[in-house]
Amino acid sequence: MRSRERLVIPYRSKVVEPISLLPREERLRRIEAAGLNVFRLRSSDVYIDLLTDSGTGAISSSQLSRAMLGDESYAGSRSFEEMQQQVKETLGFPFTIPVHQGRAAEQVLNYVMIRRHMFVPGNTHFDTTKAHIELAEGRAIDCTIDAGRSSEGTYPFKGNVAVSKLERVIEKYGARHIAYILITITCNSGGGQPVSMQNIRDVRALASAHGLPLVFDAARFAENAYFIKDREPGYQNKSIPEIVHEMFGYADACTMSAKKDAIVPMGGFIACRDEELYERLKTPAIIFEGYFTYGGMSGADMEMLAQGLREVVDEAYLTYRVGQVRRFGELLQSYGVPVVEPIGGHAVFIDGRKFFPNVPEDEFPAQLLCAELYKEGGVRAVEVGSVLVGRDPDTGENIRPSLDLCRLTIPRRVYTFEHLEYVADAIRTVFEEKGKSMKRGICFDQEAEGIRHFSSTFRYL
Ligand SMILES: Cc1ncc(COP(=O)(O)O)c(C=O)c1O
Repeated sequence: MRSRERLVIPYRSKVVEPISLLPREERLRRIEAAGLNVFRLRSSDVYIDLLTDSGTGAISSSQLSRAMLGDESYAGSRSFEEMQQQVKETLGFPFTIPVHQGRAAEQVLNYVMIRRHMFVPGNTHFDTTKAHIELAEGRAIDCTIDAGRSSEGTYPFKGNVAVSKLERVIEKYGARHIAYILITITCNSGGGQPVSMQNIRDVRALASAHGLPLVFDAARFAENAYFIKDREPGYQNKSIPEIVHEMFGYADACTMSAKKDAIVPMGGFIACRDEELYERLKTPAIIFEGYFTYGGMSGADMEMLAQGLREVVDEAYLTYRVGQVRRFGELLQSYGVPVVEPIGGHAVFIDGRKFFPNVPEDEFPAQLLCAELYKEGGVRAVEVGSVLVGRDPDTGENIRPSLDLCRLTIPRRVYTFEHLEYVADAIRTVFEEKGKSMKRGICFDQEAEGIRHFSSTFRYL
């Protein structure tokens, strides 16, 4: 769908939640008190919250009504059966283990699949994914295509895995030291960029040639399917459910943060094809999450998740969802703001280094932009760059990623385009008033250990 077409919104509001904008002086006070880290703000400090699309979507009337049917039995819950059946219908995997959210799925899966010093190559791993691989004493290796490392260029599938890089990794370490190959669809850390069906097929072929399992991090699988339909030759006349089935047909298992493309406030799962793997997953699932027919989810949540999986593959929903994000990005581009191209599925990413071209790269330009944007409009965005990537686990050195991005993440079914116009206007003001004139960025005041972007504090230089 191109931008000139009308965006048809396939829902209307029945319940609303009040939000308000604090006065400017108050916003300045609060972001200073938060150490220039938007994670440390309270939600009531924020007017428009684009921190994440995770668990922030609006549930539908059908999800709410199904929540009332939740079977809260500890073992053998009917709601678990409904959810497992829906996962099978939507993704094609017969076995499902519920967990409380995506990272829990990563913990359980990696506990089973990784042995010490094994590698997990794939496209850019999400931060919790990388951390869980490392916790299981493995190493993640980023094999994203080179085009995915640049904020410029209109290559339609920047989330693709470079098969040649993958081959080199397998050759270098030997297949028996590869735990599995991971494809994140869409690739969040790489800018919300999709992976093509051809690429999935090619990675599958390589995995099969070496007897390696292929796993999807499926958080935004439906948005990925929409991009395949929109951009990949041969898929225009296929339905979204058909495309989803083909995608998952190439995988052995998936981890899922249901807070994204199952549009629930909380939940997740591991799904797989192989009964033996399913049996091996059960014990760690019980230890870490709960009995394997609820795994940290309530019956009500499992019902809502099942319904969400049905709703998310509706093409009218996806057309609006992806179209709204794209229009927002195009509006920013029309103001000259440097956004990552092509615009991704769940978020618009601003290139922090280009936004503040005179701020040194090691002074966290994207983190600086998040603070400035909050001050200007009460808008909360999030850094996906140097702060998030952290330090090399072996050398302890700061990693300088190829892109230092400020992510404006759009919750599903929540904000109108007028909300997003307000955000775009606030960004435009920061860009015009400070983009070129700011010469210094920020540095750590206190750097938190581990995943540091949640709780570190910063100060202006
Ligand atoms: C691609 C991807 N994988 C995994 C996760 C982790 O999921 P959760 O936040 O539900 O633990 C996220 C969360 O944002 C994600 O974007």
